[in-house]
Amino acid sequence: MSEERVFARTLVTSALPYANGLIHLGHIAGAYLPADVFVRYKRMRGEKILFIGGSDEYGVPITLTALKEGISPKDVIDRYHSANAESFAQLGISYDLYGRTSWDLHIDTTQQFFKNLHAGGYIHEEDMELWYSVQSDRFLPDRYVKGVCPRCGYADANADECESCGAQYPPHDLREPRANIPGDSSTPVLRNSRHWFLDLPQFAERIKSWLDEHPEWRANVKGIAYGWVGDLRTRCITRDTDWGVPIPLDDPGAASKRIYVWFDAPIGYVTNTRQWGIDVHGDADAWKPWWKDQDTRLIHFMGKDNVPFHTVIFPAVLLGQGDFILPDQVPGSEYLNVFNRQTGQTEKGSKSKGNMISVRWILEQFDPDVIRYYLCAIAPESKDSSFDWDDLAARYNGELCDVVGNFVHRSLTMAVKNFEDQVPQPGVLDAEDQAMLDAIPAQLDLIAEALDGFRFRQGLERFIDLGRKANVYFDGKQPWVTRKTDLERTATTLYVCCQVVHALAYAMTPFLPGGAMRLAAILGVTLGKGGPEGGADVWEEGKRLIPAGTPLNPPQVLFPKLDKDRIAELAEIHRNGGAM
Ligand code: 2FM
Ligand code: ZN
Repeated sequence: MSEERVFARTLVTSALPYANGLIHLGHIAGAYLPADVFVRYKRMRGEKILFIGGSDEYGVPITLTALKEGISPKDVIDRYHSANAESFAQLGISYDLYGRTSWDLHIDTTQQFFKNLHAGGYIHEEDMELWYSVQSDRFLPDRYVKGVCPRCGYADANADECESCGAQYPPHDLREPRANIPGDSSTPVLRNSRHWFLDLPQFAERIKSWLDEHPEWRANVKGIAYGWVGDLRTRCITRDTDWGVPIPLDDPGAASKRIYVWFDAPIGYVTNTRQWGIDVHGDADAWKPWWKDQDTRLIHFMGKDNVPFHTVIFPAVLLGQGDFILPDQVPGSEYLNVFNRQTGQTEKGSKSKGNMISVRWILEQFDPDVIRYYLCAIAPESKDSSFDWDDLAARYNGELCDVVGNFVHRSLTMAVKNFEDQVPQPGVLDAEDQAMLDAIPAQLDLIAEALDGFRFRQGLERFIDLGRKANVYFDGKQPWVTRKTDLERTATTLYVCCQVVHALAYAMTPFLPGGAMRLAAILGVTLGKGGPEGGADVWEEGKRLIPAGTPLNPPQVLFPKLDKDRIAELAEIHRNGGAM
């Protein structure tokens, strides 16, 4: 249990997406937005926090895309690494470093990890039977071969695992195999190939005890992790391919093979931390405390399909190094589906259905805060959720614009107009004024409690609730009426409203950094800029009262409403497969 433990520093990672396509909203809702909200919040708290991401650039997803598009793997990763890095930046996913697993530094890190495991007796060689295409004269790893799952009968199962039921099996158990290469769907044959295996059962007891220390994790994550650790087998960590990290062994059999992408990908977090240390501190050792000091809190954000790798396999790899820390939290999300209003059905997002929405496309339609608001409001934290255009418009317009945006705008407009562009001087506070002022720190504490507990949807709801309470107060006090009869009363009301507006600027910062910046500029406040070096607790400043007489800049509409007709047009484009 570490919810109450205070760490010296926190390292946050979010899964490295394959650089073989554009990142889409499913990725964002599950892994990247929650990570960013958490990091932004912790920066405000003044904690020392480092946020690492990057592209996953090896493996079959990349080489198959290259084959399909008739270009080289290097062309694939260069294209999608830049496109995705740009999308993340535009959406405000505030990485300290967004790296690449194709960097030479990553070869060095991965090979060091491999060599340590080998020297520790955790890696051994074995001959195995693999599917081989005579037509293409090559072995068929992973998605290069498709067939019928021996457990559930799914027709598109991969060489040694089924995406449908999660079964893992030796490749020779795959039924009715067929090559899955552009231009080759021949029936493959079984051939022997020598490979290297990670002896996961050696780590089983240690992983189990470590999982037992974390009852606070999400139920879905614990369920997957315990399921895997209860059935741990040795796992092949090399592949017959030339696209990947070379195997660092003096063995002629190793030359035509590479390290498996799922071995090297999470090590990419370490590589990227190393690169950050070099870039920012000019110090090749600056990464070490972030990975080796027991006083570092390591947190991995990801979608559900990545959970086994972050709760069992990568922790085993870390344990096998001898001096690395293990993650303290692994907030894994369920899936974001797509609601199809025409059929009334919820669909899984899939390339073949053409129903996915790329971040690049949607950023051409909306301000990033629109996307951040909706995806956080429906984040699939404990169960699947659905993206639905009408719901997007209803929630953004009806909650963010009508509740928070409207309160902020009417409060500031009246203050500016009636009280010389300043926070008004209050008279005597009555019980309602005091109750509203008291609600500010209480509500900020509630939001903080949700964010500390990785309940980002709840944090956002509690932020909107502060707006709701403020609107009730405003409507009850009727400053537009008292303005004509009792200016002191009006000043007091608007003084209180300005305090809530000020708190809202802080409370919205983790979720809606664009809106927060706009509001901060009106109020003339800075919302802090913490990071790996830490800093002041800016979140607490949101509870502070801003003095009467503080100048106010001209208000602007923080969150412009979405037009329903435009939403209908976008939904139509999406339905026709044009949103990727
Ligand atoms: O699922 C994916 O997109 C993988 N590329 C995630 C890797 S996460 C980590 F290990 F880098
Ligand atoms: Zn299956």
